[in-house]
Amino acid sequence: MKVMAFNGSPRKKWNTATLLEKALEGAASQGAETELIHLYDLAFKGCVSCFACKTKGGLSYGRCAVKDDLAPILKKGEAADSVILGSPIYYGTVSGEMRSFMERLMFPNMTYTDPPQSLFPKKINTGFIYTMNATPEDMERFGLDQHIVLNERLLQMIFGASESLLSFDTYQFKDYSKVVADRFDPEKKAKRRKEIFPEDCGKAFDMGVRFAEKNG
Ligand SMILES: Cc1cc2nc3c(=O)[nH]c(=O)nc-3n(C[C@H](O)[C@H](O)[C@H](O)COP(=O)(O)O)c2cc1C
Repeated sequence: MKVMAFNGSPRKKWNTATLLEKALEGAASQGAETELIHLYDLAFKGCVSCFACKTKGGLSYGRCAVKDDLAPILKKGEAADSVILGSPIYYGTVSGEMRSFMERLMFPNMTYTDPPQSLFPKKINTGFIYTMNATPEDMERFGLDQHIVLNERLLQMIFGASESLLSFDTYQFKDYSKVVADRFDPEKKAKRRKEIFPEDCGKAFDMGVRFAEKNG
């Protein structure tokens, strides 16, 4: 049982990475082999529209033909039994690197048929952990939930199962007194970090446990 996680934050020790680490700890507690990939360590681009993955009889049919740092990671991902993506919300959606990663992960595995079909060879669990400044009320106000539901549906269609974990109103800066960010109340942020973030970590851990126990 192998569980792979992908960090779409440039920060390797902050909210998103911490939750992904907790999820992997949960999976490891059930004996799973785990690996965390930091997308910002890799030199790669999003889909370049070459369509090698869609070319009839082509050597790369159903696989991404682009050769960059992501190529060996995508290959490794084929052997994963569960995949967990994690991203901060940047301007209402996932980070640019996560978006590029998703294009490369999903496009080769999805046919342009009606209805679309998955070329991924097995059914696996996928999870998506989102972290954001937004509160649940902001999320609804800005329609953020639409991105989340769409990602869930795409991942379900391609990989079999998908669930989302949302961590709201995260602690963003090491020292709020050193940045111009009057919008936020540092005390409220610190309180939430102390009281709510550990609960989110617990939920991430439980996701990892569940993913190591069963498959899609
Ligand atoms: C470029 C940028 C854009 C952001 N845009 C949003 C946003 O649209 N909505 C939101 O709720 N938070 C936004 N944030 C805040 C982050 O989503 C939040 O701090 C997140 O938890 C950071 O994840 P990290 O600690 O793993 O890096 C933004 C942060 C950055 C750096």
